Amino acid sequence: MRAYDIILKKRNGNALSKEEMEYMVLGFVKGEIPDYQMSAFLMAVYFQHMNKEERAMFTEIMAHSGDMIDLSPIKGKKVDKHSTGGVGDKTTLVVAPIVASLGVPVAKMSGRALGHTGGTIDKLESIPGFQTSLSLERFFENVNKYGIAVVGQTANLAPADKKIYALRDATATVDEISLIASSIMSKKLAGGADAFVLDVKVGSGAFMKDLKSAKELAEAMVGIAKSHNKEAVAVLTNMNQPLGRFVGNSLEVLEAIYTLKGKGEEDFVELCITLAAWMCYLAEKGSFEKCLEMAKDSLISGKALEKFRDFVTAQEGEGEVIERPEEILPISGKIVEFKAKQEGYISTIDTEKVGIACNYLGAGRSKKEDKIDHSVGIEILKKIGDPVHKDDIIAKLYISEKSDLETSLKLLNDAYTITNHPGEKWNTILEVV
Ligand code: URA
Repeated sequence: MRAYDIILKKRNGNALSKEEMEYMVLGFVKGEIPDYQMSAFLMAVYFQHMNKEERAMFTEIMAHSGDMIDLSPIKGKKVDKHSTGGVGDKTTLVVAPIVASLGVPVAKMSGRALGHTGGTIDKLESIPGFQTSLSLERFFENVNKYGIAVVGQTANLAPADKKIYALRDATATVDEISLIASSIMSKKLAGGADAFVLDVKVGSGAFMKDLKSAKELAEAMVGIAKSHNKEAVAVLTNMNQPLGRFVGNSLEVLEAIYTLKGKGEEDFVELCITLAAWMCYLAEKGSFEKCLEMAKDSLISGKALEKFRDFVTAQEGEGEVIERPEEILPISGKIVEFKAKQEGYISTIDTEKVGIACNYLGAGRSKKEDKIDHSVGIEILKKIGDPVHKDDIIAKLYISEKSDLETSLKLLNDAYTITNHPGEKWNTILEVV
């Protein structure tokens, strides 16, 4: 077998066999296939795509390139949730305690910030003392004792995906449906859950900008899960504007705590309850409607908040964060206001630019080794459809000395459009696949 022939076959639009896929992926991981050939292969996939069988095989090969986590020490049906990535997307911080409070074990491996989107692990590390790296034994012990543990992905979880993603990022081959679906699902399969709820973001802040391509991605991911005999539900959700009120690590933890105390923003609460209900449904806790009621009740009654407290303290985080989040979380006291330049309505928000603006403040990374600043972020005060007068505050920027404020403000200025008509407001939940 030769890499050249496999690239040629894919370039010409033909389907590859499992042996050919293995040859490319495992050869690349071992360093036997050079970057230039893997890049050409990825570009061939970018233009010629993969069929359903190829996607399932590609995912399986990447999943098995490293550890396959065996969650059998944890009792009950394990349901995982995954978001394709958004701006202000702190759902795990609320959904995980809701479902855990309803008896669904949460044994979750989460990621860090990627591109313009944030990562759950970075957010959790805003809580003083919180440990995101636990031994597998302690991870299982916490789930069995408290019903919940969230840790960073082990270095050896789908290493083929890690290596291929880095190359995709440098060769303009990230945004191809088969490649995204197999990248995400390889990590999910390796994580060992029995079923998955996939939050597929749609809109200006998502990988998928329109409903049609988001639906294709959702179908591809659900298809991969089913090919591996796992149940999956994909929920297509609005990412045409930032989710909730805050973007940035500590600020998103703050918002999650407010939400668990019953003071959440409407769009964020709706999303959390819906995702939690689908997780409970897949965990066989009842009909979807019943699960929705249970999820709402957990949030309103404070059961989810108590579960969040167990979760934080079990992972060595400062429990006082629940009572005094504004004091315990590192949140910058230096605030700059971004104001409306004219009167009208907020008609569109380029949400990706808001995410990048937040990165320029210091909340994200441009290189893997970069340190993030947990204290910075953006508070969103105006969203699509809101009327504004000249000089009304649209957003507050929480900054540090290292923030590139000028670039952030320019990005926000480009991100917001104000016209004399309210823009098209999308529902929070767009479709279920
Ligand atoms: N997230 C991933 O893990 N992989 C992709 O390809 C895109 C988003």
